Amino acid sequence: MDIITAPSYEAMSEAAANQIIDLVKLNPHSVLGLATGGTPTKMYELLIKDHLAHHTSYKNVTSFNLDEYAGLKKDHPNSYFSYMNQTLFMHLDIQQQHTFIPNGIAESLEKECARYDQLLQDMGPIDLQVLGLGENGHIGFNEPGTSFESETHIVRLTESTRHANARFFGSMDEVPTHAVTMGIKSIMKAKEILLLVSGKNKKNALERLLDGPVSEDFPASILKKHPKVKIIADKSAYSRT
Ligand code: GLP
Repeated sequence: MDIITAPSYEAMSEAAANQIIDLVKLNPHSVLGLATGGTPTKMYELLIKDHLAHHTSYKNVTSFNLDEYAGLKKDHPNSYFSYMNQTLFMHLDIQQQHTFIPNGIAESLEKECARYDQLLQDMGPIDLQVLGLGENGHIGFNEPGTSFESETHIVRLTESTRHANARFFGSMDEVPTHAVTMGIKSIMKAKEILLLVSGKNKKNALERLLDGPVSEDFPASILKKHPKVKIIADKSAYSRT
């Protein structure tokens, strides 16, 4: 794993956005793996800014999102479907039929997981997978204890993850208890992984990732086994010299 430190959240976001822009320019048919949450929002803003200023085109890009809450309608303001549309997709020329997000309100979530894996298989592999890091080491919504062999599956969210995400909802009660997420194995199939880490609340998780063993107790630790991972961390999350 390579680690790069950025002096600020903005600088981290810029480095990440530039990596995506370079990739899309090099291969306009790139398959991107995208994440939600607070960490990548500035990066998305910078992609939009670049698209408007320099016309980088996403017309032929395909995207797969990592995860979605179970039980939230697509137009719910906190669904990841809404997040992605408002934060990114509606501002780019990406074609909606090329953007994939698990359907958290599918009649059968088991069938939805199988459908998503099939899509990943048919249209993958993902060229560049963007990841955020949960305070407990989760990636996507793969909570501690998730099998490294997992593909897309339904998860019960831990209280700490629900708590961390409650800031986006009116109250803790409104945070869904379950989600659908790409599994660890699905994430590891990406050709390249970009892990973004920002803020002092991620400091412990980043330290554990760098210094700790590879263990299912800490899902992000599997990234040590991937041949091409870049971590971009801002100063508040990583202060080693
Ligand atoms: C959330 C999401 C992840 C995200 C992570 C960190 O629960 N499911 O995809 O990367 O946790 O979120 P944040 O960037 O808001 O800290």
